[in-house]
Amino acid sequence: MEQVDFLVVGAGIAGLSAANCLSRLGSVVVVTKEELAESNTAYAQGGIAVAMGGDEDVALHLEDTMSAGDGLVNREAAAMLVEQGPQRVEELLAWGTKFDRENGELMRTREGAHSLPRILHANGDATGKEIAVSLLRHVREVDSIELMEWTTGVDLLVENGRVTGATLLDGEGGVRVVRAKAVLLASGGAGQVYSDTTNPAVATGDGIAMAYRAGAEVSNMEFYQFHPTAFSAPGAPRFLMSEALRGEGAYLVNAKGERFMERYHRLLELAPRDVVARAITREGMDGEVYLDMRHVKKDLQARFPGISRFLAQYRLDLGRDLIPVRPAAHYMMGGVRTDVHGRTSLPGLYAAGEVACTGVHGANRLASNSLLEGLVFGVLAAEAVIADGNERKVDGQRADGDLAVDRAASGGSSVTGEAATERWIAELRSLMWKYAGLLRDAEGLRQAQRGLDALAVTMPRGIFRRALEARNLHVVAGLIVTSALGREESRGAHYRNDFPERNTVARHSAMRAGELTFVS
Ligand code: SIN
Repeated sequence: MEQVDFLVVGAGIAGLSAANCLSRLGSVVVVTKEELAESNTAYAQGGIAVAMGGDEDVALHLEDTMSAGDGLVNREAAAMLVEQGPQRVEELLAWGTKFDRENGELMRTREGAHSLPRILHANGDATGKEIAVSLLRHVREVDSIELMEWTTGVDLLVENGRVTGATLLDGEGGVRVVRAKAVLLASGGAGQVYSDTTNPAVATGDGIAMAYRAGAEVSNMEFYQFHPTAFSAPGAPRFLMSEALRGEGAYLVNAKGERFMERYHRLLELAPRDVVARAITREGMDGEVYLDMRHVKKDLQARFPGISRFLAQYRLDLGRDLIPVRPAAHYMMGGVRTDVHGRTSLPGLYAAGEVACTGVHGANRLASNSLLEGLVFGVLAAEAVIADGNERKVDGQRADGDLAVDRAASGGSSVTGEAATERWIAELRSLMWKYAGLLRDAEGLRQAQRGLDALAVTMPRGIFRRALEARNLHVVAGLIVTSALGREESRGAHYRNDFPERNTVARHSAMRAGELTFVS
């Protein structure tokens, strides 16, 4: 058993920002499942939305965030995001993050539902990577932070209702018990719950599942954002075609070569993401949908080097060809419910970034607000950990998490072996894509529930990473389906064919220990 002051699960933008702040007060261990560079943060292309242009810009950023969120945004959280964002970005600049500049000035692009160009980018379309690299460089210099790669969170330790650490699986397959005064989840999203996703393989919802199993409340799990434009070709990965392409003038055209967005929204290609994703799905019923940049007079290879390199493998060129696209799962607006300072419903447990649900994104996240979320709420959550004292000493009793390891290891009719585990996961992901994806209805969602119940019987068990991930994906899938079935309206990213209207009263969903409730 090891003892640290603070345990941070996840090494993306939220985890590293939090660790940096916590290191002022004690020892911090940051665990991550793969190499440090492998997080959703590092895959973020388009940029980071931040209002660096003074009060009016901040006020507009707030209004854009509110209206993209379709009536469900927590205004207090959104105000903190946009007001504290500029200061956090100044810190990044001071730590050496190199955003793209023109004549010495920061370049700003526009994306969907933003009223102004306010999105900073780096190396064209590799913004997340540049931020991750500079944050890592910074925290590596802090002696009190230990970065632990190839380490997977198994379960939280809970003693007398308080989170006191976690069990972890290390790269050699050994289980470690780490006790901490506070645990901060920053483990990102769960895109892998869907067969079609822009997310990397690590995004298996571990933090949400760990928190939920420990008894924490989760919120708004029905709101999963589908990015409208992931690359679409048989056998190809669902590589992200950044929204910044549309920000720089790309059109969306259907199989007849017609621009179609005027039929769906006055902002055309720059409408909120949920609107564009549904429009593409509908147009896509009659054939392929494409991004068209052939009319854009810019050096597109220089502006989008990563995307251009990816497309070159398929002999496609942004300036010459139509690029086939369709939506893919991208970002989870729901998560472990927290207050605006990252406090969850369990003492000792904090969460920040995509794993958390402060309500900052409401029912649909505004483009490029996610990196800013990690940066701002990572620091706020760390400040709350510090403010709360978290001095309570941990005793040596056996805690709930130890039992959870035993439970994860056992099981009667579970599938075993690598290939069978992969097949089980693939089945879950297809089920979710088919019945709990972009367009939903009660019949499909019930089908998903039955499918998940059947999968539960053969759930892979054992203390190895893929079995743990399978178990976590199953928890997250169940939360999404139950919440989606309970929300009998269409709002933001949650669209019900059988309830196409929005309710007059906006309510958040909350789930804890199998109970779904809706609260204003
Ligand atoms: C993109 O570049 O389109 C993704 C940015 C985001 O998810 O906000």
